Amino acid sequence: MSHIPPKQEGDPETTGHSWDGIEEFNNPLPRWWLWAFYATIVWGIGYSIAYPAWPGISKATAGVLGYSTRAEVAEEIAAVDQANAAINARLESVELTAIAEDPELLNYAGNAGAAVFRTWCAQCHGSGAAGAQASGYPNLLDDDWLWGGDIAAIHETVSYGIRTEDHPDTRFSMMPAFGRDDLLEREQISQVTNYVMSLSGTPRDADEVAAGAEVFAENCAACHAEDGTGDRMQGAPDLTDAIWLYGGDYERLVEAVHGSRYGVMPAWQGRLSEAQIRAVSAYVHGLGGGE
Ligand code: HEC
Ligand code: HEC
Repeated sequence: MSHIPPKQEGDPETTGHSWDGIEEFNNPLPRWWLWAFYATIVWGIGYSIAYPAWPGISKATAGVLGYSTRAEVAEEIAAVDQANAAINARLESVELTAIAEDPELLNYAGNAGAAVFRTWCAQCHGSGAAGAQASGYPNLLDDDWLWGGDIAAIHETVSYGIRTEDHPDTRFSMMPAFGRDDLLEREQISQVTNYVMSLSGTPRDADEVAAGAEVFAENCAACHAEDGTGDRMQGAPDLTDAIWLYGGDYERLVEAVHGSRYGVMPAWQGRLSEAQIRAVSAYVHGLGGGE
């Protein structure tokens, strides 16, 4: 096995380690490597003096250059704001209806509004504005509006919110909880629900529709209108169009009549700039259902 040749004059120095006859030379590191190694040490020390580097208890050392990515982003944002200052000022000052007539403004509002929508609205209304999977969040693409679909109405909804404590001028209305508060008997709720179903399709129990119509006229027409088409002054939905916020099957409708619904949307005045609110309003208005 082991045929280790005897050491000769001029053989490189070894470390003395030997594995199965393989020995380890004790050559010095190449010079270029060593200098590169020293250079990284010097660079590392220099870097940690100049830039934020060492983690502390609450924050890292700041570095003598005072560099921060946050400040850099803030600067970039300020630069963009600066560049958009003029058009934002115009967007804030024109009549709402004039936005759609000014191609440059409309184009800007559409792009800026889409960005606002993705950031602030999509989690509830869905990224395509078609309403989220969860019920209660209206589709903003269609021309079925609770509170109104012209630009002024949308702007008001977005600024002040709906049934929110965020803003004193919030849009507000409250459907009574007819079952929970004992305003209607179980039977009447069943009747009126069948009547509501008959307005846009087939009732579950056709025999109850006539009685339900009477219950409706007395208890519901004040908000949902005599013909059931709703009232935007009160955000009362059209019950004849087969578009449902919370679902149109018998159980879901009984639930609405029994316990009422109370959809809440945040107010954006104070959270977003007026230019952002106008941009997103114009964006929503332009989605297809705008009036
Ligand atoms: C926390 C969830 C939530 C967020 C975030 C939200 N909304 Fe809403 N929004 C709602 C709900 C719920 C309603 C329906 C309220 C009701 O039942 O009347 C609504 C209603 C609306 C309406 C009225 C629709 C109609 O038919 O009249 C508009 C317009 C609207 N939202 C736009 C926006 C915009 C624009 C944003 C982003 C700036 C936004 N919403 C963010 C929950 C939200
Ligand atoms: C004070 C006004 C008011 C009265 C009275 C009222 N409603 Fe409503 N109703 C509303 C409002 C506002 C909403 C929407 C609530 C929301 O968006 O969260 C609504 C929602 C509904 C819904 C849910 C619609 C959907 O798209 O999911 C049904 C169903 C309904 N009402 C039926 C009735 C019936 C039946 C009566 C009478 C027994 C009645 N309402 C009386 C204001 C009223």
